[in-house]
Amino acid sequence: MKRNLLSSLGAAALCLISVSGYSQTGTLSISTDSKTTISKHIYGQFAEHLGHGIYGGFWVDKTLPVKKQDRIRLDVVEALKKIKIPNLRWPGGCFADEYHWRDGIGPTALRPRMVNTNWGGTTEDNSFGTHEFLELCSLLKCEPYVAGNVGSGTVEEMSKWIEYLNSNSTSTVVKERIKNGHPAPYNVTIWGVGNESWGCGGNMTPEYYADLFKRYAAFAKDYPGAKLKKIASGPNSDDYNWTEVCMKNIPNWLMSGLSLHYYTIPTGNWGKKGSATEFSEKEYFNTMVNCLKMEELVTKHSAIMDKYDPGKKVALVVDEWGVWTDVEPGTNPGFLFQQNSLRDALIAGTTLNIFNNHSDRVRMAALAQTVNVLQSLILTDKEKIVLTPTYHIFDMYKVHQDAKYLPIKLDAPNYEVDGKKIQAVNASASQDSTGKVHISLVNLDMHNAITITTELKDVKWSTVKGQVLTSANITDINTFANPNKLHLVSFTGAKKDGDKLVVTLPAKSVVTLELQPL
Ligand code: AHR
Repeated sequence: MKRNLLSSLGAAALCLISVSGYSQTGTLSISTDSKTTISKHIYGQFAEHLGHGIYGGFWVDKTLPVKKQDRIRLDVVEALKKIKIPNLRWPGGCFADEYHWRDGIGPTALRPRMVNTNWGGTTEDNSFGTHEFLELCSLLKCEPYVAGNVGSGTVEEMSKWIEYLNSNSTSTVVKERIKNGHPAPYNVTIWGVGNESWGCGGNMTPEYYADLFKRYAAFAKDYPGAKLKKIASGPNSDDYNWTEVCMKNIPNWLMSGLSLHYYTIPTGNWGKKGSATEFSEKEYFNTMVNCLKMEELVTKHSAIMDKYDPGKKVALVVDEWGVWTDVEPGTNPGFLFQQNSLRDALIAGTTLNIFNNHSDRVRMAALAQTVNVLQSLILTDKEKIVLTPTYHIFDMYKVHQDAKYLPIKLDAPNYEVDGKKIQAVNASASQDSTGKVHISLVNLDMHNAITITTELKDVKWSTVKGQVLTSANITDINTFANPNKLHLVSFTGAKKDGDKLVVTLPAKSVVTLELQPL
């Protein structure tokens, strides 16, 4: 009787421990049995003519007191170079399907003006066009990813744009490029054939789009040194039929990738998406449930692609992802300007872990949208600049770029809110060319630290070091007045215990560890 009472008390104590902030435990096993490389292009970015993404973000007024090359602001360039962004997608988005490239070349003063019908009805002066974008990419040392206009442009228009960019011939269009200041071909290779053709790109059916893709792709020619990687406009979220039809109707040799767009909406309701800075634990939890849906989407779209492309020739290109909240109060609703909190950092870490773990099929992605729009890396206000919590995650995760993917098995406790559960920890791992192993772990639990004991098969290592991003509150942000509230600090919660690695992840944190080989 006494014994039973004691064991009941023990169970109650255990129960208390699990809800009151004490450490919980899990296990992780990492294998080196893999032939897959995590493509650096998973860490790609997206910049659309939208709000202050281009204008104010990258391209500023001549009089703005910041270091510039031409009108490109170099503080933004330097920050993005530091995290090694591998590619930049441009000019949209929805804007891409109403963009006519000829409007953005030649003397700036003579360029036509247009109304940006998708994003706030602003006047687009076309001062940032093809040459300016490619100058930006060359400063960033990243690959350009151009989205061509299928929705309102012709086959000839797209075909000529590619010739203008990449041909070394004596054709009239090439002479025009030379006259506009660029004698050498640009050799752009990553080419999007339309954007969201199921929606703002033309409201098409997948059957109609697949036929159009074949037609546009046939005249999107390769030039010496510039073999195009053509990306088809893929599904919206869980539209598996779109993937099925495109994979069935478009031959594998004609497309290098099929895109997927998925945004995390905190409330799940596009009408009232939720604030970027003020949310309850319940809303945070729902946001993470919606973010984790990326795992299901990537798995299911990949399974359909496997049916038609078992050799995995065609990449799944998640070229629009991130959290989409209500705009900051008082800002133009068409500009999609939102703040960026610790929650967004956890979204970034979790999503990048998902991509790393699916790197056999997900070989390219783009966060929406780099500067001042949606889940940005950087916010600017005239000459001021802030690096967001999301920026710091890309900084921390850059070690995975082009590293060997290491398969993992993770067993972690649940994080439970209102009777709903998600696995509290997610992770990914890779090994770089020098033998160093990098492990990224996200603890989504807002209250509990979690200790993960890790076994590394076939890896002999000596020391571990790491970096962590966390903060007192899940709603914490970096502001122009306090730009360093959230920043990377060195992590001391990991140690070697025999052959095992034992790491205690603080609540609501992202950690990347580096294991030095013996
Ligand atoms: O990223 C904002 C918009 O979201 C893009 O223009 C469009 O492709 C998507 O619907």
